[in-house]
Amino acid sequence: MKAIVVTDQAAGPAGMTLAERPVPEAAGGDVVVEVHASGFTPGELSWPGTWTDRLGRDRTPSIPGHEVAGVVTSLGYGTAGLTVGQRVLGLTDWTRDGTLAEYVAVEARNLAPLPGDVDFAVGASLPISGLTAWQGLFVHGRFRVGQSVLVHGAAGGVGAMATQLAREAGAHVIGTGRAADRQTALDFGAQEFVDLDDDSLADVGEVDLVFDVIGGEVGKRSTGLIRAGGMLVSIAGPPEARPADGLAVDFVVEADRAQLGEIVQRVRDGRLRPNIGEVAPLDDAVGALNPTERVKGKTIIRIRP
Ligand SMILES: NC(=O)c1ccc[n+]([C@@H]2O[C@H](COP(=O)([O-])OP(=O)(O)OC[C@H]3O[C@@H](n4cnc5c(N)ncnc54)[C@H](OP(=O)(O)O)[C@@H]3O)[C@@H](O)[C@H]2O)c1
Repeated sequence: MKAIVVTDQAAGPAGMTLAERPVPEAAGGDVVVEVHASGFTPGELSWPGTWTDRLGRDRTPSIPGHEVAGVVTSLGYGTAGLTVGQRVLGLTDWTRDGTLAEYVAVEARNLAPLPGDVDFAVGASLPISGLTAWQGLFVHGRFRVGQSVLVHGAAGGVGAMATQLAREAGAHVIGTGRAADRQTALDFGAQEFVDLDDDSLADVGEVDLVFDVIGGEVGKRSTGLIRAGGMLVSIAGPPEARPADGLAVDFVVEADRAQLGEIVQRVRDGRLRPNIGEVAPLDDAVGALNPTERVKGKTIIRIRP
């Protein structure tokens, strides 16, 4: 099968090449998915799981991309809950070959059904951004109706999802980002916007929850805004500062079939709008995933037309 592979960690996304790889087999509990669309997140090339297996053994050449939308073609021994021919979407294991390929083997429990009226490219754009936003707000952030939420990077992949989910759940949402992102963040539902380069974050006043996708100085400055009993939720690594009278958590997104189902349902009925930029075929994936200019929205690789 055709696949994008990486062999050199130091090269980053520029080290991607299009290669021929064997079609994977379904192990126990797995399905093989015929990939129709794939999502890739640049951060994964710095994570150990891209380069070694769980025992630390080299696993290069490895296939990146861990978001998938496609059709199940075979089931491993004992696999339950999915059938051959079913449309699915999901987040695949970071320590196994990924989805920038014509086929991927993935544990069935990491996948959810993809309804026929949701396009594969849309399906592949949802797992990381949707699940991260969901888990940050409702699992780790313990969001409650009526709270105020500051979403950093509100025009980005995770931020756009967090902004929409928080609004739907009854939050007052303040988005942040670059000046050029103001309208995009407002269009996704933010009620206020802070340009992190030119506006003062301190003017926001107190908030209950900060959803931080940026970290560093921005994360540190945000802790001062958090109301007593509030929370800083970070996806940008362990927070460098903590709120004086609140909690700080960081987490890594996990696959979850039920949460994916909730996210897909919201896309179907229009409550959630995906944030997709360029859609490129597998033959053009290396160029599309190495943009020379700033891109808006998530790049999706369409493996099958
Ligand atoms: N822990 C987890 O489970 C998890 C899950 C998903 C993602 N992540 C990580 O979270 C981060 C965000 O992911 P994403 O997919 O949402 O990325 P994204 O689509 O690039 O969104 C980030 C947004 O924040 C903006 N931004 C970044 N730094 C900024 C700054 N200093 N000032 C103003 N705006 C800034 C970006 O603008 P520019 O494009 O102009 O920089 C962009 O609009 C990435 O580092 C990713 O690796 C972690």
